Amino acid sequence: MDGGYYMLCIKNGTLVAPQGRWRANIFIENGKIVPESCADPSAECYDASGCLIFPGFIDAHTHLEMDTGTTVTADDFPSGTGAALIGGTTVILDFATQERGGTLSDALRIWHSRADGRCACDYGFHMAVTEWNDAVRAELPIMAEQGVTSFKAYMAYDNLRLNDDELRELFAAARGIGVVGVHCELGDMVNRRVSELLDEGHIEPLWHPRSRPNEVEALAVRRCLELAREANGNAWVVHLSTREGLDEIASARALGQNILCETCPQYLTLTDDVYDAPDFEGAKFVCSPPIRSETDREGLWKGIYENNIDIISTDHCSFRFRGQKELGKDSFADIPNGLPGIEHRPALLWTYGVAAGRITAERFVDLLSAEPARRFGLSGKKGNLEPGADADIVIWDPDAEWTLTADTIHMAADYSPWEGCAMKGRARAVFLRGELSAENGRIIRPNDGQYLFRGPSL
Ligand code: URP
Ligand code: ZN
Ligand code: ZN
Repeated sequence: MDGGYYMLCIKNGTLVAPQGRWRANIFIENGKIVPESCADPSAECYDASGCLIFPGFIDAHTHLEMDTGTTVTADDFPSGTGAALIGGTTVILDFATQERGGTLSDALRIWHSRADGRCACDYGFHMAVTEWNDAVRAELPIMAEQGVTSFKAYMAYDNLRLNDDELRELFAAARGIGVVGVHCELGDMVNRRVSELLDEGHIEPLWHPRSRPNEVEALAVRRCLELAREANGNAWVVHLSTREGLDEIASARALGQNILCETCPQYLTLTDDVYDAPDFEGAKFVCSPPIRSETDREGLWKGIYENNIDIISTDHCSFRFRGQKELGKDSFADIPNGLPGIEHRPALLWTYGVAAGRITAERFVDLLSAEPARRFGLSGKKGNLEPGADADIVIWDPDAEWTLTADTIHMAADYSPWEGCAMKGRARAVFLRGELSAENGRIIRPNDGQYLFRGPSL
C-alpha cells in the first residue's frame, strides 16, 4: 500500500532479539513499529506461523558499481540491493571511494548518483580515503554533516593505500565522528611476494593465497591498532581472516582499546583447498585477504563465541567468472579481487552457525543486525523490533531446506562460491519500512530504498 495511514499486523511468529525470543504480534503503522495498545482491530494481518521474526539484517561492507581500474563489479545498486533484500538484508552500507586527485564530496556525489532511486533496500555510505592532505582532512566533518560517519583506508593496493603517517592522521581526524575501517594487509610485503612468485613462473590462482600468508594480515592488524592507539582513534578491522589477526585484536582489547572487528561468511565457511580447483576455477575464490586454513576458520568461530568478533558483513564485491575473473588467466595478480555474497549471508550464517549448533539465533541477530545498527549510527531506527523502529522485518523460515546453485541466485555474478551447498533457513518475506518488499525469492518493490543519514559510529 502506498503512502498515507496504513496499519499492518504480523501475527503468530516468534520474535528474536539478542536478549532472547518471545511470541508476540508486531503492529506497524506508517512504516514504524508501534505498541500493541495502538493496534487497530481492522489491520491487515500477515501470518508468520512457524517462522522466526528478525529485524532486517544490515550488511555493513559492500562494493557495488565499483571500478577497480581494470573492470567494474558485476553488481550495480539495483541488482545488488535486490539480491540483498531477497536474502533478508534491508540495509547496506557501501564504500564510496575517493578518486585520487578528487575530493570526498565528489565521491559522495558520484555514489549518490549511482544509488539514489535505484535501491531495493535502504543504504548508507562509508567514505574510503585514498589520498590524504589538509583539504581532505577538512572534508571529514562535511561528510558527517551528510550522514557519512565512517571511513576506510587501505594498507594494500598501490592505487588506494595510505602510508602509516597518513593513516595515523586519518584516525586522529575522524575522532569524534566515527570509526576508520582498515583493510589490513601490508602492501609492501604483498607486492614483494607477488613479484617473486610471478618471476618464478607461478601464475595460477592457487598462488594468490601464497602471496598473502597469515603474517601479512596479522602484522598489518598490529600496525593498524598501534596507529589508532597513538591517535586515540577508533579502529574497525574489516574482513578479518586469520587467528593471528584475531589474537592481535584480543590483546589490544585486553589493554582497553576500542576496536570494531568484522569478519565475513567466506572466512567462516570455506577453506583454502578451494584454490586447488582445476581449470582456473580457483579464481572464483580470489579475494583479499584470501580464504584461509581450517585452523583459521575454527579460530574465527571461537572469536565469535568469545565476543572478539562483533559483526559479520559480506565484503560483497562481485565479478563474473566469464570475462572478469578470466582477466587473470595469465597472472593470478590480475584476477579481480572479491566474492559475491550479499544475497546469502543470512542463510549461510544460519546454516553454518545456528543450524550447525555454533551460535544461537540470538547471537545471529546480534552479529547481523543489532550490533551493526548500534556501531554505525543507526540505533533506535534499525536493528531492533521495538516500538519506534523502522518496520524492517524478516519473516524467517528456520526449517527451509534448499540447495544454493548459481542458476537460482539474484546477484549478477555467474557463479556462487557456495555452489551446491545444502542450506538451512531462508527469508520467506521481507518488509522494508512496513511494506512487503520481497517474498519467496521475488522482489516486489525494487526502488523503495532510502538513503540513511547516520549518527556517529562507534
Ligand atoms: O577482495 C576483496 N576483498 N575485494 C573487495 C575490496 C576490499 O578489499 O575490501
Ligand atoms: Zn578490503
Ligand atoms: Zn571490501
